[in-house]
Parts: sequence; C-alpha cells; structure tokens
Amino acid sequence: MTVLVTGGAGFIGSNFIFYWMENHPEDKVVCLDKLTYAGNLSTLKAVMDKPNFQFAKGDICDKERVFDLFRAEHPEVVVNFAAETHVDRSIDGPSVFLQTNLFGTATLLEACREFGVGRYHQVSTDEVYGDLPLERPDLFFTEETPLYTSSPYSASKAGADLMVQAYHKTFGVQATISRCSNNYGPYQFPEKLIPLMVLNALQDKPLPVYGEGINIRDWLYVKDHCRAIELILQKGKPGEIYNVGGHNERRNIDVVRLVCTELRKPESLITYVADRKGHDRRYAIDPEKIHKELGWLPETNFEDGMKRTIRWYAENREWWEGIVSGEYQEYYKKMYGSR
Ligand code: NAD
Ligand code: TYD
Repeated sequence: MTVLVTGGAGFIGSNFIFYWMENHPEDKVVCLDKLTYAGNLSTLKAVMDKPNFQFAKGDICDKERVFDLFRAEHPEVVVNFAAETHVDRSIDGPSVFLQTNLFGTATLLEACREFGVGRYHQVSTDEVYGDLPLERPDLFFTEETPLYTSSPYSASKAGADLMVQAYHKTFGVQATISRCSNNYGPYQFPEKLIPLMVLNALQDKPLPVYGEGINIRDWLYVKDHCRAIELILQKGKPGEIYNVGGHNERRNIDVVRLVCTELRKPESLITYVADRKGHDRRYAIDPEKIHKELGWLPETNFEDGMKRTIRWYAENREWWEGIVSGEYQEYYKKMYGSR
C-alpha cells in the first residue's frame, strides 16, 4: 500500500513517517511537503535513502502538482499534516493560513475524490473548539463541543474540518478527522512553547512567558498521537471525528519551570512578557470516544516524555543550530523584541 503523508518534513508529520515505516515496512510512504520555514529536509535524513520512501517537494494548494502526484503514485491512504501551524504567526499574517489550511485541504480532498482514494485523514486540532474557563476544571472538549475559534489559525483549521465533512457527505470521500491536544517531542520547530524554552534555556537566554503563565494546555507526547492516527486509519469509521488527548493539563509556567529543573537552569531566566492577543485560556480533551471505540490510551507520561524530549534537543544541536541561525533570528526579534 502507498501512504501519502503531506507536511511530513514538519514536526508531527516526520514523527508519523518514522512511526509508520517502522511498523509497516511493507508500505511505501510518499511525503509531499512545500518545505516552508517549518519544514526541514534534514529531519527526514534517516529515511531519505530507503527504497520504500519518496520525498516530493510541492504545495498542497498546487492542484496540478497534487494531481500529477496522485496520478503517478496512486496513494491508497492520504494523511494531511501540511499546515501553517503557529498561532502567533497567524495573528501577524492570517492570509497564508487561509490559503494552506483551507484551500490546500480542499485541493487534497478534490484529488481524493478524483482518484477514488480509499482513505483520507485530516490531522486537526483541539483549538477548533475555542477555549475553556480556568475556573471550570470539570469541563472538557468532546466531539460534540461546538466549533468556536479564537485565532486565524484555529479558524482556518475549523474551516478545513468542515470541508472534510462536506466532501465525505456530498461526494462520499472516505474521510476521518482527529483533533489532538498540544504535542511535544523531537523535531518540533522552536517557535512553539516547549522547544523554544528548551533551546533558550540551553543557551542561557531569557524564557519569555506570555501574560501570567497561567494558561493551560493539555500535552501529549508526539508518538502517542501517531499511534492514535494509526488506529483511526485501521479501525476508525469514515465520517467520524476523534478527539485525542491524555488528560495531561499543565499551566505554562509549570512547564517552563520543569524545563529549568531538568536542565539545572535558574528560574531567574523566566521573563514575563506581553500576553498573546485573544490568548486561549485552557484546552482540555475528553478522549473517551477514541479510548472506548478504538482502544487508544497514551503510553508516555509527561515527566518521562519531557526528559526524553529535553535530552533529544540537548543531544541534537546540529538539527536546531542551523534553524536558529537563519531567518529565525528575524522572527524572534519581531515577535519578542518589543514584547
Ligand atoms: P509544523 O509547522 O511543524 O509542520 C508543518 C509542515 O507542513 C512543514 O513541513 C511545512 O513545510 C509543511 N507545509 C506548510 N504549508 C504547506 C503547503 N502549502 N504545502 C505542503 N506542505 C506545507 O506542524 P506540526 O506541528 O507538525 O503540525 C502538523 C499538523 O498537526 C497540522 O495540521 C496541525 O494543525 C496539527 N496539530 C498540531 C499540533 C501541535 O501541537 N503541533 C496539535 C494538534 C494538531
Ligand atoms: P504554543 O506552543 O504556541 O501552542 P498553542 O498556542 O497553539 O497552544 O503555545 C503554548 C502556550 O504557551 C500558549 O498558552 C502560549 C504560551 N507561550 C508562551 O508563554 N511563550 C512563548 O514564547 C510561546 C511560544 C508560547
């Protein structure tokens, strides 16, 4: 079987490719990626020369490119990770989010319809549900929670989800959607909370915490997300949505303190900076459905996953030193310079 993975040079997509190739060595994996600032070909070094792996550079919005690839590779399964993914960038410039996340998803769906692809999976996010109040720890996002987005990022992802459902209902595309909580692990671009804090701490730089640091995210180790997607592809029902999360809620400040403790860095590095506009307060997934229907449970607890992740960044400097030396410096100055 051929599996097309879009956005596979990014964080979760690359981890998924490694996971899939290890557990399904009989399959061919084709990765379609535009290699934006967030995509890194060196991430895929370990699989690049494997005979059952192929990398194709291209934009999921480019219909001709996408259709040519489907024509040539005949994928039976398509898993779409390709997206613009950073909330702060979406506040700075929303239009590319609309383009890639909405139009790009629609282009892939159109190709699945045209070529009769057996299964399309949309990797979505819990952010489509908006946020929950801090003082109501009893509330969780279920698959029935209404879409109520806060940022251009989450709005574009919600729009994409609706398009997936439309292609399923109207054209019979065999599609599933997963909505996962915040992921962490190796190969995450250092614009997101955990890798940014780890890299800054390793370099003895300030650790910029937004607002009071009391916003809550529900963290999941990336491999557990990959397993959830595998289960959805194997046992999930087309037309269905599955929430993915491991009941692991943490305040941002506690995550940053943990990074300091693990790296033996002083908490005096922590610097409180201006809050994000429209900052979602709390995300919390109710994973009952995927647990009951597909038997999924997370395997990695947060403390172990964080230890492993922090060690990975400490031991893989050549991966991130190239990234933080280039245009990332400009990004950092723009986002944090006057914050
Ligand atoms: P990422 O930003 O690390 O990687 C995105 C990848 O997509 C990059 O390789 C990039 O080059 C590629 N890409 C971007 N635009 C493209 C285009 N037009 N055509 C082809 N490729 C393009 O993202 P990530 O954190 O790995 O997230 C992957 C998916 O998972 C996204 O859809 C995101 O919404 C979703 N998600 C992420 C998280 C998280 O915590 N990171 C949580 C839940 C869901
Ligand atoms: P992020 O990793 O951008 O994920 P998301 O906003 O999509 O959940 O941010 C996670 C949390 O960390 C969020 O509440 C914002 C906060 N944050 C900081 O306090 N400082 C930072 O430098 C970054 C990048 C995020």
